[in-house]
Order: sequence, then C-alpha cells, then structure tokens
Amino acid sequence: MTDQGFSTKAIHAGWDPEARTGAVNVPIYASSTFAQDGVGGMRDGFEYARTGNPTRRVLEENMAAIENGTYGRGFSSGMAATDAILRATLRPGDHLVIPNDAYGGTYRLIDKVFSQWGIEYSVAPVNDVAAIARAIKPNTKLVWIETPTNPLLNVGDIAATAQIAHDAGAKLVVDNTFATPYLQQPLDLGADIVVHSTTKYLGGHSDVVGGALVTNDSQIDADIAFLQNGAGAVPGPFDAYLTMRGIKTLAVRMERHCDNAEKLVEVLSAHPKVTEVLYPGLESHPGHAAAAKQMRRFGGMISVRIAGGQIAAQEFCARTKVFTLAESLGGIESLIEHPGAMTHASTAGSLLEVPADLVRLSVGIEDIDDLVADVEQALG
Ligand SMILES: Cc1ncc(COP(=O)(O)O)c(C=O)c1O
Repeated sequence: MTDQGFSTKAIHAGWDPEARTGAVNVPIYASSTFAQDGVGGMRDGFEYARTGNPTRRVLEENMAAIENGTYGRGFSSGMAATDAILRATLRPGDHLVIPNDAYGGTYRLIDKVFSQWGIEYSVAPVNDVAAIARAIKPNTKLVWIETPTNPLLNVGDIAATAQIAHDAGAKLVVDNTFATPYLQQPLDLGADIVVHSTTKYLGGHSDVVGGALVTNDSQIDADIAFLQNGAGAVPGPFDAYLTMRGIKTLAVRMERHCDNAEKLVEVLSAHPKVTEVLYPGLESHPGHAAAAKQMRRFGGMISVRIAGGQIAAQEFCARTKVFTLAESLGGIESLIEHPGAMTHASTAGSLLEVPADLVRLSVGIEDIDDLVADVEQALG
C-alpha cells in the first residue's frame, strides 16, 4: 500500500467491503469473545477482545499504513500508548532523554511513576541535537522527542536525532501528535517508534480519547502486543471506529487547519498585545528550517505570549467566544487554553515549567474571518 497517496490509504487501508454483507464501512464489532471451531480453532485470529477485536485491528492496520510503518497498535489513550512504550523498552537502571518542554503528562508519568522503578531521565532542548547527544549516557536506551512540542512548538530534527540515538545504541521515539502523519512521517526519517494521542487530530472531532503507536521493528511490536494484551489498556470497538472515521478526512482537515493557522499567525504577529508568536511556519522561528525539511506544512497549533503576563494571558483565554476555553487540541472546533494553569500545570516548579504569559491556540476549521474577529475582540 505504500505506493498509494496519503488519503487513499487513510480511507481504504485495513478494510475491504465485507465479503458476507458488502458493508463498505467497518462495523463496530461489539463482541468481547469469539466462537472457536474446536479448541484453538480461531476464525481470523480472534479469541477475546482484549487480545484483539476486528474493529481495532482495522484501525491498527490503517495507522501502520498512514505512518508508512509495518505494525500498528491501538490504546485507550495517548498516555496508555506512552506507558506501554516505556515499559516495553526500559528496565530498572536504564536512562532516557526527554525534551525540556515535553507534554506535561509524558513528563509526569516519567518523573512520578517510572523514576520510582529505577528509570533515570535527563532533559534536553528538542531543537539542540548537540545537547541531546550530551545528555545521552552509557545506559541510555531511549531518546524521546515530540516535534513540534506541546506547547512551545519547538522543532526537533528527526533524522539528525535518530542518528545520534542509534550511534549510542538507543531507540528514537517520536510523539507525532501535533504534526500528524499527514504533515510528517517520522519512521521514514529514521525513528523507531511513532506514538500518537489519537484523541487529537486523528480522531479530529473531540469525541474520543485514544492512543496508537507504529513501528517497523517486529521485536518492539511483539513486546508492545504482549503489554497491550497483558495490561489491557485497549480501545473499545466504538472508540476505534470513531478514530478511523476521523482519519479518513485527516488530509482535508489538516489543509484547512494550516490555512487558518497561517492567517491567524499574520494577525497575531501584528497585534500590539502579543509579544511573541510561536509557530514553526514563521521564517523567524528557530525551528523553521528543520520543520520545512521534514513537514509538509506547519500545522494548526499556535502559541503566543501576551503583554501583561499571567493575568492578561488568562483574560485573553476567558474572553474568546468562538475559541472555546478548554484543554485538548486537534478537533474541528477552535480551542484556547492557558498551559501554565491547565494542560501543563503538572510542570510547575520543574525544569519543564512553561511561561506564565503563554496562551495556546488549537486553530479549528471554522471560517477564518470569524476566528480573526474573535481573537481581535478578545485581545481588546
Ligand atoms: C503531544 C501529546 N502527547 C500525548 C498526549 C496524551 O494523550 P491522551 O490525552 O490521549 O492520553 C497529549 C495530550 O494532550 C499530547 O498533547
């Protein structure tokens, strides 16, 4: 399937019209168990739905296809997928490197949970390959990056980071949630595992929580599959269905997210109340060259710093009417949030603390004139 275009794979990979009924779309197989033809005689490989469910399997094959990978695995959330990767690849005494502005939940899981089990970590700026190389130790097994990062939109050079991770005998994980496989395909650039919060752009409609990972490495996939079944943080068939329904329109949605974000970036950059616009599409952005090299376009996420600090930033968030004040991102509707008090509150007082004047915008696919008018009235 790799020779087909992105949307053809997104719409078709994993499912042909069903032989028995002709159903064009994958059914929601709401069955927890599957009849066997004699002991061990499984039909199509299914026995129990924690181990495997037909709707989930279609999502997993589809995810693998759109990330240009071999193996896909679905999870009940992005954090469940993250947790499975950490447990599959690290043992007590091992070390990993994470970005100094990693998603707050990723940082919290590593800092509060895995560190108790003897896993060490160091932080390094995702956009500084030399600093990542310096953070690598003899016991480093994993280099974890997000690009662009949540919420500072820093950009890591995936190919260069893969090279230094591999030189050290470590694996590279890329959290591709912000970019999506439509804009960026990390496995093609040398990453070993791609992880997603499918809650975001892949689901795309703010109606389902999910996670997925894709790899070309059969041993990693086997270890992940063992944990997926052994620990059981799997998505239900309805969740898998909703996620796939979103993926089919990912390309057209992403084009519109990018169009709207680019226009809003122009407006915000010229606004006197905005002291800085963080968007990898800006030529002045320090990660612009790396982003232009590895991304099709620059995405639908914008972060801004607001004159007047935390209070002014929170007032901006509270005054928008089309942008809804809410956590999460990547849905068709525009969202606004204050990371310091909301999504990234768990980083307070740590090396990963985010600036108090920062506001994050998830630019939706509404009419751009309404989004511009809303932001202008809210900034005052
Ligand atoms: C970059 C990134 N990775 C992982 C996650 C975790 O995903 P989930 O909320 O689906 O568990 C999020 C959630 O916001 C995220 O933004």
